[in-house]
Amino acid sequence: MSRFEGKSIVVTGGGSGLGRECALSWAEEGGSIVVTDLIEQRALDVAAQISDKGGKAIGLKADVTKESEVAAAVDKAVGSYGKLDIMFANAGKAPAGMGSIALEDFTEEQWDDVNDVVYKGVFFAGKHACRVMKESRTGGNIVVTISAGGHNQYPGFGPYCAGKAGCIGLVKAMATDWGKYGIRVNALSPTHGMSPNFGMPQDAAVVGQSYEEYALAQEGATWDPYTRFPGPLKVNRPPSLRDNAAVATFLASDDSTYMSGITIPSCDGGNFARTSIPIPENWSLDDQIIL
Ligand SMILES: NC(=O)c1ccc[n+]([C@@H]2O[C@H](COP(=O)([O-])OP(=O)(O)OC[C@H]3O[C@@H](n4cnc5c(N)ncnc54)[C@H](O)[C@@H]3O)[C@@H](O)[C@H]2O)c1
Repeated sequence: MSRFEGKSIVVTGGGSGLGRECALSWAEEGGSIVVTDLIEQRALDVAAQISDKGGKAIGLKADVTKESEVAAAVDKAVGSYGKLDIMFANAGKAPAGMGSIALEDFTEEQWDDVNDVVYKGVFFAGKHACRVMKESRTGGNIVVTISAGGHNQYPGFGPYCAGKAGCIGLVKAMATDWGKYGIRVNALSPTHGMSPNFGMPQDAAVVGQSYEEYALAQEGATWDPYTRFPGPLKVNRPPSLRDNAAVATFLASDDSTYMSGITIPSCDGGNFARTSIPIPENWSLDDQIIL
């Protein structure tokens, strides 16, 4: 398929995980990509991988917490490809402590450290994409990576989850205010099948697999969804980055042209459909003892 033929695209956090997966596949489908990341070498590596396969890409350092760097990434797309069609505001990072710090013990600095990326960084990406898309009068498309944590809490991830929840509102705000320019804004909220680099140090090698695929490979194990997958949906392969990328691709492509302001949980494995009350799967009313 060539759903991104002739499209100029900026990806934030494109050096690893979901951003990298999308940059690679959108380039294969004809997109011209500005791959950006906080870690310049990661962005350069992904751009080189695309160019080596005959695709069009430029690698650039852009820290989404710095408005000038986000603006420069947008300028790079316009300068190199003549326009900007798609902004993928995807960069994110885990909160300090990776779940080990009590919410009441987070410092202001730790709060800002994560929310400047996952919340304010999305605003900067949207703002600068909007400005050039509005000017072009041909509309545009902004896709945001949120998280299951924006809908429900991961214990110990309070500041991150709050910022992600804020992004659900921000997506609606951008969609509402910029719809008149033909700009649509949607988001995906990945649950499973995401990148283990998220929990690793910045200098770790890019894994390019999901947590679940990575764990299997490390253990030399085979996939058994009944023992290894904590959701109601049992599938005979592990969830992967591609499962989330498929939803991002739907939102970034013309297949979703008439959607705006929507956040789709991706790769949820049925977890969004159930409560956490531990009712056994073979529960029957007849077995219940009424006190
Ligand atoms: N991995 C998960 O468990 C998980 C689950 C749900 C949602 N998410 C979200 O998915 C998105 C993509 O994360 P991923 O899973 O691919 O993780 P990842 O760590 O593999 O990739 C994220 C990339 O963002 C970059 N980055 C971090 N801070 C940045 C900044 N200030 N400016 C620019 N780039 C920056 C990192 O260097 C990294 O290359 C993020 O928004 C994340 O919050 C991740």
